[in-house]
Amino acid sequence: MPFDNVFGAPPSELAELSPHVRQFSPLSPGAERLEEAVGLDNVAMLAPPGAIERRAVLAMALRALQPGAPLLAMAPKDKGGGRLAKDLADLGCACVESAKRHHRICLTRNSGDAEAIEAAIRAGAPRLSETLGLWTQPGVFSWDRLDPGTALLADHLPQFSGRGADFGCGLGVLAHRILASARVKSLLMVDVDRRAVDLCARNVADSRARIVWDDVRRLKKPEPLDFVVMNPPFHDAGRENKGLGLAFIERAAEVLRSGGACWLVANRHLPYEAALEEKFRSVAPVATAAGFKVIEAVK
Ligand SMILES: C[S@@+](CC[C@H](N)C(=O)[O-])C[C@H]1O[C@@H](n2cnc3c(N)ncnc32)[C@H](O)[C@@H]1O
Repeated sequence: MPFDNVFGAPPSELAELSPHVRQFSPLSPGAERLEEAVGLDNVAMLAPPGAIERRAVLAMALRALQPGAPLLAMAPKDKGGGRLAKDLADLGCACVESAKRHHRICLTRNSGDAEAIEAAIRAGAPRLSETLGLWTQPGVFSWDRLDPGTALLADHLPQFSGRGADFGCGLGVLAHRILASARVKSLLMVDVDRRAVDLCARNVADSRARIVWDDVRRLKKPEPLDFVVMNPPFHDAGRENKGLGLAFIERAAEVLRSGGACWLVANRHLPYEAALEEKFRSVAPVATAAGFKVIEAVK
C-alpha cells in the first residue's frame, strides 16, 4: 500500500509513495508542519541522524497518526538506523525491524506512550540558548554551539552598506553582525530549513531583514545586490556534496551587481577558488584559522 504522508526522502525501493504524497520535512520548502498534523492514515519517514531531533520527529509522527495506522521509519545503519527500534521502544512502541540497502527499517502500528511522546517533542522543541544568546532547536545547523567557521567569518566581515543577502542563514548569527551596520538597507535571509527560518524570525528583529524559506538554487532573482555573505553547506542528505557549495557561489555571482562582493567561509580542504575565479573579477584570501578560510570575491 503506498504511503500518503512522508517525512524526508526514504529510498523508493524501501517505501512506495502515493503520487499525491504530503511532505512533512522542514527541509522541503512548502512542506506541511508535522508539529500541527493530526489524523494521518500512515507515515513513511527517513528519520534524521541527530538523536534528539530523531526522537522528536518519531514522536510527532506517532502523535499525528490515527490509532492503528502504520509508521514506517528508516535510516541508514550508521546515521541513526541502529537506534531506531530503541527510540520507538522508548516511545512505547514495539516494532518489526528489518534491514535492507544499508538501512534499518522499523514498522509499527502502536500509538505509543502519550507521556513519553510529549517528553520527546518537548526535548526537540525550540529553546533560548544562553550560550548563543539566540533561539535554537536540535537539528538546525550548529544548534548548540557557535560554529568555528561562522565565528571566523563574523570576525572578518566588513561594515557593509546597501542591499545584501545571507545565503543559508541558519540561526541568524551572521545576520546580526551584518545588520549592526546602519548603512545596510536590506538583508535577504534564505534557508532551506523551515526551523531556521522560524528561529530567525525570533532572533533577527530588524525591519531591514526579509527571511525566506527557500532553496538558494531555486530562489527568485532579486534586484542586483551589493553583497552576499555565506557559510555554504557542503552536505546534502548527510553526505558530502561540494556541488551544493559551488551552486551557492554560482547563485551569489548571479544576484550581485558588478562590483558587488561575496564573503564566504569554507573548510580549507574545499576547492572553491577555481569556481570563484571563473565567476568573479577578483578573489582574495582574507583569513585562515582552525581549518577554515575566509574569502572575499568581487564581481
Ligand atoms: C553551514 S550552515 C551555515 C548557517 C549560518 N549561516 C551560520 O554560519 O551559522 C549552512 C546553512 O545552509 C542551509 N542550506 C543547506 N542547503 C541549502 C539550500 N539548498 N538552500 C538554502 N539553504 C540551504 C542549511 O540549512 C544551513 O542552515
